[in-house]
Amino acid sequence: MTRSTAAAAKLVAKMTIQEKASLTSGATFWTTKAVERVGVPSMMLTDGPHGLRKQRANFDHLGIGDSVPATCFPPAVGLGSSWDVDLAHRVGAALGVESAIENVAVILGPGVNIKRSPLCGRNFEYFSEDPIASGVMGAALVGGTQSVGVGTSVKHFAANNQEHDRMRASSDIDPRPLREIYLRSFQRVVEDAQPATVMCSYNRINGVFASEDPFLLTRVLREEWGFTGFVVSDWGAVHDRVAAIAAGMDLEMPASGGRTDAQIVAAVRDGSLDESLVDASATRIAARALQAAAAPRVAGPLDVDAHHALAREAAGKSIVLLKNDDRVLPMQPSQRVAVIGAFATAPRYQGAGSSLISPTRLDNAFDELVARGGEQVRFAQGFTNDGSGDAAALRAEAVALAAGSDVAVVFAGLPAALESEGFDRDNIDLPVAQLELIDAVLEANPRTVVVLSNGGVVALPFAQRVPAIVEAWLLGQAGGGATADVLYGEVNPSGKLTETIPLRLEDSPAYLNFPGEQGHVRYGEGLFVGYRWYDARRIDVAFPFGHGLSYTDFSYGDASASLGADGDVTVRVAVTNTGERAGREVVQVYTGLVSASVQRPDRELKAFAVVELAPGQTREVELTVRRADLAYWHINADRWVVEGGDYTIEVAASSRDIRSMTTIRIEGDAVLLPLTRESSLGEVFAHPVAGPMLQGMMAPVLAAFGGAEADAMGGMDMQKMLSAFPIGRIGMLAGDAAGPEAIEQLLAAANAPQA
Ligand code: BGC
Repeated sequence: MTRSTAAAAKLVAKMTIQEKASLTSGATFWTTKAVERVGVPSMMLTDGPHGLRKQRANFDHLGIGDSVPATCFPPAVGLGSSWDVDLAHRVGAALGVESAIENVAVILGPGVNIKRSPLCGRNFEYFSEDPIASGVMGAALVGGTQSVGVGTSVKHFAANNQEHDRMRASSDIDPRPLREIYLRSFQRVVEDAQPATVMCSYNRINGVFASEDPFLLTRVLREEWGFTGFVVSDWGAVHDRVAAIAAGMDLEMPASGGRTDAQIVAAVRDGSLDESLVDASATRIAARALQAAAAPRVAGPLDVDAHHALAREAAGKSIVLLKNDDRVLPMQPSQRVAVIGAFATAPRYQGAGSSLISPTRLDNAFDELVARGGEQVRFAQGFTNDGSGDAAALRAEAVALAAGSDVAVVFAGLPAALESEGFDRDNIDLPVAQLELIDAVLEANPRTVVVLSNGGVVALPFAQRVPAIVEAWLLGQAGGGATADVLYGEVNPSGKLTETIPLRLEDSPAYLNFPGEQGHVRYGEGLFVGYRWYDARRIDVAFPFGHGLSYTDFSYGDASASLGADGDVTVRVAVTNTGERAGREVVQVYTGLVSASVQRPDRELKAFAVVELAPGQTREVELTVRRADLAYWHINADRWVVEGGDYTIEVAASSRDIRSMTTIRIEGDAVLLPLTRESSLGEVFAHPVAGPMLQGMMAPVLAAFGGAEADAMGGMDMQKMLSAFPIGRIGMLAGDAAGPEAIEQLLAAANAPQA
């Protein structure tokens, strides 16, 4: 028990039931209630995740635009692409400082939901289609923010992978994908970084609202993962307040005007709710409020310049160079550059919804390009985002500019109206006017670069023809400067995709099961999310998970893998910068188990690291694959199990660019499931105690079927043939030797505690 928990428990012990219940719902849209009589203060929680959104006044959701100025860092779609844990930690710390200056106790983020479908309207707020990438980046951000004494709220727990019908739909998921994909990112954050709070999601999981699911909020989160903070509801996620508190859902947000507090009091009084559960929730909330009050004050004003510079560094490291034929990039300041597209002057730099930040300032790429190229850099709008104006005339103007330039840079992307919290996209296409523009510009100037601004991936039908493509996501307030840095080579791009870019939406894993119907969405693709799917189905993609180019090249040596005393695997590989510029390479480690007894993806990301290298420099990179991350969820044992065998260790520059492969033998966990009358003969034969007993019992039968009988059946292996037969039903085969009593004895011996 921490000091603040012990202190909180003492204060809660002095409270009336009404006071305790009052702590479990908001006072206002963004604050908790104080219990001044005993000295528990109020605290403020605000959005998140990629900047502080503290509303000025009239707290409600509708005042989304009116928040105090704060640094808008790259949303998770960008920051995730940096794969840079240290950077995420520093961004997290900066978010913490901005929150502390504004007296905010908890900033609502990060979001570590899995990008199950490219259509999810909120993918820009999430890191990846992979749980380790999401969890590791999320944990780094949490660690950074909490290092300055501000709490975080990892969200949206759990399986909130779409916006469609998000407040009611049930995500129907089998246990293995639930554990191995959808919960794993949260598990990583909780176990590694112990966030102050976890935000439960709106949706239901297998029929049960996340806000009232004891399996999720108590068994998994607290008992298995050791979470010690409090659970806060997503705003308006509570459906049945009494069921929620019984499940472990501590703080209902926003305010309920005391209505649900009264329900809690009534339930305690009529005996349907155990008061100790209310005590536990009140204690967790009070503990954080006390901690927040005791946290060191951070005096303002905010160092706007320093945080803008960090936002620019982060944006630069988030950009993914998808393609760069003939080294079209970087550009030279002496080149005549046609800058085309509305996003160059009016950047799309963040997504819409509750995460919308009022930035302290805003770069745009065109001004930043002009700052380097001067009069050589000219602009044509090319298209409008709302479809207004004369598309043909805009296109003709852009084409003329491109024809007279050395390089044409088209800033294409998704208009803000197409992606937002609250709804999903219908398709992954760029607007037709933009596609036509790209084709026309390319025809006028083969040295065309496409720079993309988008929160969710888009189809790139021009990818074979356009020589250079820069995925510039939504990059936050300094994205314009960072994009110019990359285009002119002042920053060498190093981001890599944390999400596959498919050729067609129809190829994507959830295509036939998204967004569900009649209140249910079936996660029919199971474990095969993102690259796990494209690899298993051998589907070509536009750009694979983990892909990203640099202006330099890297070569990899032979990887080695060794087992540590703790069971973790250390992977080592030498990486060399073989080009002429300094650069950063994201090294990835994937594992697989060909001999697996259960279905497993071909390869799964287990570790990654960023290495910075001067031209010609070689460094050995060391990565750790945790033994726990090799485990799969054993459905019958209802726990994680590491299966023994020879694991492949692939060291890779992307999920489809494996540079070195080795294998390592891993001893498996013992799994001895209790035997029952329904256990198959195969299972009983394999059992260390029951197996030999059964051999003895069955010997006469097997012998009887041996010899001529077996020959007559083409050399049939009787033991194999009978292996699926439940032991409780073999009496008819084995006669008295395997009668009911003998079987009971065998089962009792098998299930007796082993010495
Ligand atoms: C969103 C959360 C957000 C909360 C508070 C909800 O609608 O889903 O992500 O933190 O509102 O604005």
